[in-house]
Amino acid sequence: MSTDLQKTLPPYRIKVVESIPLLSREERQRALAEAGYNPFNLRADQITIDLLSDSGTGATSAAQEAGAALGDESYAGARSWFRFHDEVRDLTGYPHILPVHQGRAGERILLSSLLEPGQICLSNTHFDTTHANVALVGAEPRDLPCPEAADLDSAYPFKGNLDLDAVQRTLAGPDGGRVGLVLMTITNNGLGAQPVSMANLEAASALCRRHGVPFFLDGARFAENAWLVGQREPGYGDWTPRQIAARAFQLADGCVVSLKKDGLSAIGGFIGLRDEELHAVCEANLIATEGFSTYGGLAGHDLERLAQGLREVVEPRYLQARAAATARMARSINKAGVDTVQPPGIHALYLNAGRLLSHLPPHQFPGHALGCQLYLDGAIRCAELGSLYLGGMDDQHRLVAPAPFELVRLAIPRRVYTDTHLGYVAEVLAGIAKHPERVRGYRIVSAPRLLRHFKVRLEPVPDPGPASER
Ligand code: F0G
Repeated sequence: MSTDLQKTLPPYRIKVVESIPLLSREERQRALAEAGYNPFNLRADQITIDLLSDSGTGATSAAQEAGAALGDESYAGARSWFRFHDEVRDLTGYPHILPVHQGRAGERILLSSLLEPGQICLSNTHFDTTHANVALVGAEPRDLPCPEAADLDSAYPFKGNLDLDAVQRTLAGPDGGRVGLVLMTITNNGLGAQPVSMANLEAASALCRRHGVPFFLDGARFAENAWLVGQREPGYGDWTPRQIAARAFQLADGCVVSLKKDGLSAIGGFIGLRDEELHAVCEANLIATEGFSTYGGLAGHDLERLAQGLREVVEPRYLQARAAATARMARSINKAGVDTVQPPGIHALYLNAGRLLSHLPPHQFPGHALGCQLYLDGAIRCAELGSLYLGGMDDQHRLVAPAPFELVRLAIPRRVYTDTHLGYVAEVLAGIAKHPERVRGYRIVSAPRLLRHFKVRLEPVPDPGPASER
């Protein structure tokens, strides 16, 4: 066997499996219609391949489950807490670690303790819950992605970067005094799973230090970012993913991390802090709203799974196999004539639905239409990242400001699907790409005012409509 093939071989075998349903076309059609053509409303047992999220959907290892059996459920000072704490502290170097049940709980606690109403939070891109938690404080979330991110097709290796010039201009301009935080999302989930380079992190960190602004990481996919840095950034080829991740944490004043991704567990998260005063404020908030500071809403068995998961996630062989599987899937999809945001990241592929379904105008939601077609043709579930999710609408649910791109995210759960499953997804997409014009658009029937995409109900548009409307 060639060493290359060996390198990309998943470094585990499967021990426990779960059956997945196969539905007839009629069943899929009925299920989607009953769900109001919104895949979020489907039952998970109506789905064959679920690519809605990579969050909390991964498989745990035998070592994690063995640890879980030893979970110490003491209310305070549990053995499992110390195992988790030491693992996180070794990895991040932060003197203060607070456990939380998931990322957004950490965001709420950190951002409400750190930001004041009227302040600005700058980011390469805020994840949607982060955006919401900044706004809930009365502060303004402002995304400043690097200009290279706007070209979906280029091979630029670090499209997740922050636009440092724009940050510099903001800090030096009239709004400079209002910037309360710079938050870097690694990898950039809102923008094609693209990584952030160490050079960009270093420059952002130095800039923040010069201006006295706190610099934090949203490290939900810290290990995957580290892997891509090792592969793509000159000077890091000899570093282990763990060393690169540790360096990234070192550059920041603190972090908030959802461990439902790179914690290789169904639940969990933490806040890491250097500042003692901020820690005291966050800790009081944590105890009042999440749980005592040695469990933060997590069970002892969760803390054990997380401590072990944090070791496994930085193993080079695991990261290499996962990155290779995503890249192979991207190649199959591209070969079938469907463009994805380039270069492929690790946790998800982002399909350019606007280009594939160019006969559908944004107000007929091409990304959503492609997602529905993947369900109708293959019982595959995924998430739209286009005008339905991000567009501006009036009171009648009419699209008034389309999103910049009409994308569909295929998120890949960790250690769950084999190449055969991912190949099946590529095959179903290839079938759609043969006759994209048969895919109908959608219109909104009803939608809540907030967090529209979760509960919106739609119906297919019978005809794409005259060209003059597009
Ligand atoms: N930050 C990023 C970059 C995320 O992707 C997520 C969640 C969070 C924070 C919030 O963490 O879910 O543990 O509360 N992303 C999931 C996704 C939901 O599907 O991308 P959480």
